[in-house]
Amino acid sequence: MMEERIYYFEKPGKENTDDAVRLAVERAVERGIRYIVFASSTGYTARKVLEHARGRDLNLVCVTYHTGFYEEGKNSMDEETERFLRENEVKIVRQSHMLSGVERSMSRKLGGASRVEAIAEALRALFGHGLKVCVEIAIMAADSGAIPIEEVVTIGGRSRGADTAVILRPAHMNTFFNMEIREIICMPRNKR
Ligand SMILES: Cc1cc2nc3c(=O)[nH]c(=O)nc-3n(C[C@H](O)[C@H](O)[C@H](O)COP(=O)(O)O)c2cc1C
Repeated sequence: MMEERIYYFEKPGKENTDDAVRLAVERAVERGIRYIVFASSTGYTARKVLEHARGRDLNLVCVTYHTGFYEEGKNSMDEETERFLRENEVKIVRQSHMLSGVERSMSRKLGGASRVEAIAEALRALFGHGLKVCVEIAIMAADSGAIPIEEVVTIGGRSRGADTAVILRPAHMNTFFNMEIREIICMPRNKR
């Protein structure tokens, strides 16, 4: 048996970014976890992670929106930010989103929802958007070979910034049910 702290934010959202990132980095260091995986669409959260992780022996993996998420052929992160992150040894993962995929086009065009979208919606409803993102980016990072299958810290948020961090054992898209959320580090108490 072990005792550990969970931090709760009053509401989801970007204003929690600094605290969420700080707590995530602290926990990773305490536990000797080697990889921090975080969502960052524009680079805002990525810069916060870099600030807090400076001087620490951590591998930083930034999962960003797939090309075309907002506009055909366009990236959500500008080139200068991406170059800055790469120069600071942040690995960038940009690929199809695992908890929507081509099924999202089906749902938009034909209605209904796929099983994978149901998983995403259940995670959002029960634990908040940030935790759904923590799960999704872990699969994306694992499937692109950016992280090994060992305990990692993942960080997600509600649209912008970060408000949730967990320790999880990742899995690939074809072994999804092998994933385990081992610890919640922080999350919003109110989800909506
Ligand atoms: C693959 C991926 C999926 C995401 N899914 C959601 C989502 O379902 N709901 C949500 O509120 N935010 C979602 N986000 C946003 C992130 O949780 C996070 O708030 C955002 O990427 C931070 O970007 P910033 O650093 O530019 O502020 C997603 C981000 C990524 C990269």
